[in-house]
Amino acid sequence: MMNETLRMITERYSCRAYDGRLPEKEQLEQIAVAAVQSPSAINRQPWLVNVITDKALIDEMDAEGMRILAQADDKAVYERFMERGGRLFYNAPCMFLILKQPGTELDCGIVSENIALAATALGLGNVICGMAGIPLGGENAGIFMQKAGFPEGYEFGMSVLVGYAAGSGSPHEPDLSKIRWIG
Ligand SMILES: Cc1cc2nc3c(=O)[nH]c(=O)nc-3n(C[C@H](O)[C@H](O)[C@H](O)COP(=O)(O)O)c2cc1C
Repeated sequence: MMNETLRMITERYSCRAYDGRLPEKEQLEQIAVAAVQSPSAINRQPWLVNVITDKALIDEMDAEGMRILAQADDKAVYERFMERGGRLFYNAPCMFLILKQPGTELDCGIVSENIALAATALGLGNVICGMAGIPLGGENAGIFMQKAGFPEGYEFGMSVLVGYAAGSGSPHEPDLSKIRWIG
């Protein structure tokens, strides 16, 4: 039988359709604790984890992001999202927004994966979502940063969307040719 943790790693996949139902508070709390359990350089923990469960705010950020993408010179990204249903955040009811101190991308990335694996372990759909940086980086960034609870000194790190999957998905095939044994 496969070890539970290793099984979660093999089962995680990027979920791009949610039914909109908010998971139990207790589940979101467990995921949040897994997030701040992450390792960090010199144990600095240079992050904040804002758990956004205000669906209206998530939808507002979604619409702002799509508006910005629609105005871009290169429409390829906008068109890809239109093909996927026209939603930047796939109707997810919860966004784990990771705020970081400047220059701590790696620490922040580890938090993202802890969140993704914890959500998978609880049977919840999840996707690491860099696109949250679009509404938080456009001309209305200040408004959205204020609504999303950014304190002074923190910037957008990453987001992870979490909720109940609408439909099923599957993990990507691991490319074993990337593994090289030296020695
Ligand atoms: C840093 C980072 C940012 C990502 N941003 C997005 C995103 O904005 N939207 C999205 O749908 N997927 C996003 N993904 C998910 C990747 O597309 C996905 O992990 C990859 O295609 C592999 O598929 P899998 O996660 O299902 O194994 C992101 C992943 C990472 C690591």
